[in-house]
Amino acid sequence: MKFTSLLLAVVSFFTVALAIPVNLDKRDVFVPPILYPHSGTVWTINERHNVTWDTSNAPVNITNSKGLIMLRKDNMATPLILAEGFNILLGRFEITVPWVVEGDDYSLVLFGDSGNWSENFTITGSDISF
Ligand SMILES: *[C@@H]1O[C@H](CO)[C@@H](O)[C@H](O)[C@H]1NC(C)=O
Ligand SMILES: *[C@@H]1O[C@H](CO)[C@@H](O)[C@H](O)[C@H]1NC(C)=O
Ligand SMILES: *[C@@H]1O[C@H](CO)[C@@H](O)[C@H](O)[C@H]1NC(C)=O
Ligand SMILES: *[C@@H]1O[C@H](CO)[C@@H](O)[C@H](O)[C@H]1NC(C)=O
Repeated sequence: MKFTSLLLAVVSFFTVALAIPVNLDKRDVFVPPILYPHSGTVWTINERHNVTWDTSNAPVNITNSKGLIMLRKDNMATPLILAEGFNILLGRFEITVPWVVEGDDYSLVLFGDSGNWSENFTITGSDISF
């Protein structure tokens, strides 16, 4: 990854992180739970998959309908953005599995107004694991 794009990813990560508390007190906060991937899911790098989440509890007027999906590893945020700017009411969005080290402790976080995390799942296909 080029340094500039890494920097951009880091910057937008912190922009999002800083923006969340501002929105929290407003009405109609929507935090959809991620349904897929879940525990037991195995993804291979470069595959395409639909991340899906439950929109059944969506309020009529949500404060922020723009979604963002980021990767986490070992319970910690990474600067990797998998998708951004889609409508959170879609309930799914197709992403490409990023080229990362193998691991069974990946999870996703879906941001609308605030974030919710998926269960841990596995990404496989590279020669390196930690
Ligand atoms: C995230 O989703 C889980 C599962 O639906 C739910 O129990 C939890 O309250 C949610 N977390 C937040 C911060 O809304
Ligand atoms: C994601 O869902 C859409 C709509 O159901 C479907 O057309 C597409 O093939 C799915 N993508 C994958 C990778 O399954
Ligand atoms: C949603 O927003 C519209 C336009 O601002 C308003 O007329 C309506 O009463 C709102 N509905 C709810 C349930 O807040
Ligand atoms: C995911 O894995 C991490 C590290 O092994 C662990 O601390 C965390 O509790 C797991 N999360 C879930 C939802 O199982």
